[in-house]
Amino acid sequence: MRGSKLRAAGVKGIGAYLPERILTNADLEKLVETSDQWILERTGIRERRIASKDETAATLGTRAAIEAIKDAGINPTDVQCIITATITPDYFFPATACLIQDAIGATGAAAFDLLVGCTGFVYGLVIASQMVSYGAFDNVLVIGADVLSKFINWRDRHTCVLFGDGAGAAVISQIDDDYGLLGFDIGSDGSLSKLLRIEAGGSHRPASLMTVLEEAHSLTMNGSEVFKFAVRAMSDSTRRALQACGLDVEHVSLFVPHQANMRIVRAAAERLQIPIERIFTNVEKYGNTSAASIPIALAEADKLGRIKRGDIVVCTSFGGGLSWASCVLRW
Ligand SMILES: CC(C)(COP(=O)(O)OP(=O)(O)OC[C@H]1O[C@@H](n2cnc3c(N)ncnc32)[C@H](O)[C@@H]1OP(=O)(O)O)[C@@H](O)C(=O)NCCC(=O)NCCS
Repeated sequence: MRGSKLRAAGVKGIGAYLPERILTNADLEKLVETSDQWILERTGIRERRIASKDETAATLGTRAAIEAIKDAGINPTDVQCIITATITPDYFFPATACLIQDAIGATGAAAFDLLVGCTGFVYGLVIASQMVSYGAFDNVLVIGADVLSKFINWRDRHTCVLFGDGAGAAVISQIDDDYGLLGFDIGSDGSLSKLLRIEAGGSHRPASLMTVLEEAHSLTMNGSEVFKFAVRAMSDSTRRALQACGLDVEHVSLFVPHQANMRIVRAAAERLQIPIERIFTNVEKYGNTSAASIPIALAEADKLGRIKRGDIVVCTSFGGGLSWASCVLRW
């Protein structure tokens, strides 16, 4: 993918932030007709974090961004561009990335949001890497931040048990040759957009008393159809991303999939014939944190020593759109 004149671009620093409040499956049993056993068996989730009233995509994203900047060993003023992947922005506009730019003191940095659901962080990482490779910027901050707890119908057991809040961030910079982003695969199938969405509040169905009464501002999902799509999309996309850089599944040290559901991860791993020991999961503790899921997992895997310099790491995700995104990194 890289021409000889292009710079190698990759993760120079990584960080994450999770809200303090923990909501367990037992807590959910008091809200809807469900059980710890059902949630655990069907999803692998035990608990998730929930943002406080004052916490937003921007405040969570800011905390993660500060960690990533520290980890990269740079100053906030060295960040020249901020990409925030979120489907739960603080406002329709301005972009959440602009709020984070101000909060961290990245003076004058370009800032915009990506609205691609759970795949947003990998989309952002790919875009940021191109910007760095082509020399447009030296340091691009990519953030995945979502507070889906504020867009969930807490009476709908089909969805409220699945999601959690959080943020993760990475500084993408020029790094040593042959390291960083080696290959990727991103795509979408908009004909499936109805399977996962928030119906009202946009120009299609602007907010009104009716939309509020109908709870049309919360997330709706066709779980079993999304499940089937997810397994196919993550495994096919992983293969294409590896093919793009001439690698194979056996070259990969660690797979970091979107943390949506343990059953989806296992089914995708089976299709790819990846042993479970080479897959990083933390869905048990945080649930599905949407665009934050991959950077939170990457930051945790890095902290736990599960990724070493030179390792081939594959991140793969699916989400609203419906969309998919995979990237191959040499760490
Ligand atoms: C949502 C999901 C866990 C449901 O698991 P499933 O095995 O497909 O379960 P089903 O939807 O077929 O439901 C089975 C039964 O459990 C019931 N059920 C659903 N949610 C429940 C809950 N929280 N607690 C208890 N029972 C529940 C259903 O009502 C259904 O009962 P019924 O047949 O009497 O109607 C699964 O489809 C999934 O993970 N889909 C992907 C979701 C996802 O990742 N979305 C995010 C995309 S980024």
